[in-house]
Amino acid sequence: MNVLLLGSGGREHALAWRLVQSPGLTRLFAAPGNPGIAAEGASCLNLDVTDHNAVLSFCGGKQIKLVVIGPEAPLVDGLADTLREGGIAVFGPDRAAAQLEGSKGFTKDLCARHGIPTAPYKRFASEAEALAGLTSFSLPVVIKADGLAAGKGVIIAGTVTEAEEAIRDMFGGGFGAAGAEVVIESFLTGEEASFFAITDGRTVVPFGSAQDHKRVGDGDTGPNTGGMGAYSPAPVLTPELEARVMAEIVQPTVQAMRDEGMPYSGVLYAGLMLTARGPMLIEYNARFGDPECQVLMTRFTGDLLELMLATAEGRLKGAAKPAFSEDYALTVVMAANGYPAVPERGGTIEGIDRAEATGAKVFHAGTARNGKLTANGGRVLNVTARGASVTEAQAAAYAAVDRIDFPSGFCRRDIGWREVAREAEE
Ligand code: AMP
Ligand code: GLY
Repeated sequence: MNVLLLGSGGREHALAWRLVQSPGLTRLFAAPGNPGIAAEGASCLNLDVTDHNAVLSFCGGKQIKLVVIGPEAPLVDGLADTLREGGIAVFGPDRAAAQLEGSKGFTKDLCARHGIPTAPYKRFASEAEALAGLTSFSLPVVIKADGLAAGKGVIIAGTVTEAEEAIRDMFGGGFGAAGAEVVIESFLTGEEASFFAITDGRTVVPFGSAQDHKRVGDGDTGPNTGGMGAYSPAPVLTPELEARVMAEIVQPTVQAMRDEGMPYSGVLYAGLMLTARGPMLIEYNARFGDPECQVLMTRFTGDLLELMLATAEGRLKGAAKPAFSEDYALTVVMAANGYPAVPERGGTIEGIDRAEATGAKVFHAGTARNGKLTANGGRVLNVTARGASVTEAQAAAYAAVDRIDFPSGFCRRDIGWREVAREAEE
């Protein structure tokens, strides 16, 4: 079977790496892909994913039977709808279901209607109303742009002045169309964890847990990023908590979406706060996390193509349950100097073979190959290794990182620190 994978990051490289291991795969096409994806044997090409009919006609020409949509923008934009109407199987939700990521207000309202635990909130469509509504929240308070804002649309305000500034900035266009509506919500305390589930709209199966590191600097300091590293599983999400997340958050969401005529199909990524009162939903994403996908795929032992196809075709109930290795995987993001503001492009990268000789896997996140390999994005490489503990996986990942020569790049040196500290206490 021929498959088309959309996206160009480390997440998509990890998906490509697993897809090419599936016996059912004939040819993998990636748009736009990246040099790492090409090295897995995929044909990378340029396709304008905002031109839905162009993607559909490409699928017809290349006999593509399944399209895997990596990032959120084409999902929220309804690409899956056009492809499905054209008879192509798609891994990823359609436009209506992708609102779970595309509109924070939509998700909060769904949670409210169905008793799904999340922070108390209010939605606002104008600056004046939001400024007035702010007074009913205690500090710190969380201000969110409703729409997609590339992970930047959340401000945690410690003072009323900061909160008012965030509101003015959002309604003033600081976050583009995403800020046309704003959600204000109560601040939750606890440890964050990510949980993944695969669903065809009816059957829901767990797909593992991970913990991300969003701040750019060691010790969780500095500005937010798309994620500087991750590990899986996240032991803080114990089997008991995972069962609660499935029963109290994920399954009721999938059921609610079906009952309301917007069945959700694909991977559902729940960002959770583990509070003293139990797990609460911070947000949903309609796709795999990046770099969480890299650690999930490293531990996944099944047939990814078959799982994605079964999901897309609504036959997850009869499919093999996703299985994972018992060990830990940890990934360190190597970013270009300047990230997350203005990353330096064009820096040379050497030593990936040396790094992989240790047993690690290096996923390409933002690279270009024009003779030599160079940096071509903010997050550039994801150096991923396994171990019997998070501590061992961390040591293995950094041993591989240290073999890479990327003078214009940097990485955090403490990925996995929470769990490494807990393991040291044991
Ligand atoms: P989001 O884009 O919704 O995941 O938010 C980005 C980050 O903001 C999350 O990973 C949390 O660290 C933080 N955050 C969002 N909502 C809340 C909340 N209600 N309470 C505490 N932290 C939050
Ligand atoms: N690593 C966070 C995300 O993919 O949203």
